Amino acid sequence: MSQSSFNCFLIAAITTDGFIGRGDADLSTRWTSKEDAAFYRQKSTEAGAVIMGSKTFATLGNKPLPNRVNIIYSRSEIPRTIDLKSVSSLEPGRAYRTSLTPPKLIDRLSEFGLNALAVSGGASVYRQFLESRAVNEIFLTVEPLFFGDGVKLLDCKIDTLNLKLLEIKKLSAQTIVLHYQVNYD
Ligand SMILES: NC(=O)c1ccc[n+]([C@@H]2O[C@H](COP(=O)([O-])OP(=O)(O)OC[C@H]3O[C@@H](n4cnc5c(N)ncnc54)[C@H](OP(=O)(O)O)[C@@H]3O)[C@@H](O)[C@H]2O)c1
Repeated sequence: MSQSSFNCFLIAAITTDGFIGRGDADLSTRWTSKEDAAFYRQKSTEAGAVIMGSKTFATLGNKPLPNRVNIIYSRSEIPRTIDLKSVSSLEPGRAYRTSLTPPKLIDRLSEFGLNALAVSGGASVYRQFLESRAVNEIFLTVEPLFFGDGVKLLDCKIDTLNLKLLEIKKLSAQTIVLHYQVNYD
């Protein structure tokens, strides 16, 4: 399967000073706007599948998001998750755990007929998808807050990534979404 036909996009809410959370057990929707929650729901439901790390999944009480295939990155067993290796089909509203690399995961999801994936954090997951050059597009919701400290969007240095701004979408008087295309050449 060619990954070029697969839309893998990174989606995150950030504070104006670039943080995605105060700590790794922080539930994002405590500080993000209801407009961002609606935007995330719409984009990730359109994609059909989301991936998140086990810490982010824990902030949701280990409860899968409805109407989307939930892929959870973990090397441990997590209640109510199914090993992706053991299944022959994927159901929206269920959670599947894996440790496949981003390119292998995209191939696997393509085999199941999916054609998009919302990379939904946290920082460790954003890093792996960016490092493996699997992300085609980025949606950053900028909330009008400064944390000063906390979990950064990325937790390490990466090669410079060239982005093309496609759109600035105003979700409300206070909140914007920056929509970028990622250029790898
Ligand atoms: N603002 C936003 O849009 C947004 C979105 C999402 C998350 N967040 C925030 O991000 C923070 C959490 O981020 P985080 O980086 O600390 O944690 P995380 O990425 O959610 O989860 C990290 C965990 O995922 C598992 N994992 C990661 N890569 C893996 C791989 N390749 N294979 C198998 N397992 C893998 C490991 O768990 P195991 O120990 O289970 O193996 C690892 O400890 C929280 O504050 C959360 O609120 C913010």
